[in-house]
Amino acid sequence: MALANRLRKDYAWVKTPLIIGAPMRLISLAPLAVRISRAGGIGFIAAGTDVSTLETELISAQRLLEENQIPSQSGLPIGVGFINWGADQAVSISLLGRFKPAAAWFFAPRSVHDLVSWTEQTRTATPTTKVWVQVGCVKDAVEVARACKPDVLVVQGTDAGGHGLAQGAGIVSLLPEVADAIEALVKEGTVEETPLLMAAGGIVEGRGVAAALALGAAGVVMGTRFLASSEATIAAGYRGEVVKASDGGQNTVRTKVYDSLRGTTGWSQGYNARGVVNRSYVEALGGLDEEENKKLYEEALKKGDAGWGVDGRLATYAGAGVGLVKDVKKAGDIVEEVRANATGVLERLGKNSIGK
Ligand SMILES: Cc1cc2nc3c(=O)[nH]c(=O)nc-3n(C[C@H](O)[C@H](O)[C@H](O)COP(=O)(O)O)c2cc1C
Repeated sequence: MALANRLRKDYAWVKTPLIIGAPMRLISLAPLAVRISRAGGIGFIAAGTDVSTLETELISAQRLLEENQIPSQSGLPIGVGFINWGADQAVSISLLGRFKPAAAWFFAPRSVHDLVSWTEQTRTATPTTKVWVQVGCVKDAVEVARACKPDVLVVQGTDAGGHGLAQGAGIVSLLPEVADAIEALVKEGTVEETPLLMAAGGIVEGRGVAAALALGAAGVVMGTRFLASSEATIAAGYRGEVVKASDGGQNTVRTKVYDSLRGTTGWSQGYNARGVVNRSYVEALGGLDEEENKKLYEEALKKGDAGWGVDGRLATYAGAGVGLVKDVKKAGDIVEEVRANATGVLERLGKNSIGK
């Protein structure tokens, strides 16, 4: 089946190349998720590790969608993203069953055994909801594909903003290696249907999307780009630093420092998060005592927007592609522009790339 048809079989409203808004804890809420889906992408509400406000967000999405319905095979034409090690499973499954989003996105479970339980319970509660799992290496992709038979594997490269595996590869090598490993599982009969692969990590604009499609992705997940969207729930100081930052390979870093300052310390050993280098990080590296660093962080919090910045101390989680984010735009415009630019690149490549 052609890719666009396979996508529309499950997500009636989408346009290709498919752009997906990453669930970003505290930032991707109903307004952002709905705008992305309205533009033909798939928007995700981030439930993260704390599902206590998820019901309110889902009701809010329902209201926003009432204004102008989007056709969907499931209850809501958006997804919900959970960080499994922290999210309350019983509450989450009950909300999934009630609102039936088009997709449930799982990330960072304590074990694959836990993920099997989430997957099975989701499918029982809401058979029309597709199961998406974000993974960061070939081993996890194979293990998850075998155990959970997800509908979608989100392949997260090391350039990604926010949390991911501390040790990883960029999607240029990771995605095709995952694709080959999954294909081998299908050939040996361990997995019946190949899950769709979505690429995440460092993709910010049309050229990156075109490249990801060439690698074998069915769609592209963007987080960092949507930090600079009008609908993101984000402080002006944070958003301003995302627009300002450049040369992300030099000026962002994967570290646990920001987690320890913010007290978000439940992540497993193998995970850390990518953010813009600032004074908290530089001084931690220089040997500043953690308690003292926390005190300075708390003081920076009181400064509000002025607490962010290269010389500030508040965490600016963002990916290595941050230098390509130049302005704040409406989320729907971002989706349409990135999709159109990717299409343009692919058309030009079709004509020019092999010299014909
Ligand atoms: C600020 C921020 C918060 C994030 N929060 C989550 C989250 O709550 N759950 C999740 O599965 N992934 C989260 N991610 C990771 C994204 O799912 C995705 O892998 C990443 O944004 C892709 O890379 P990019 O930021 O370069 O686009 C977050 C990313 C960012 C930048």
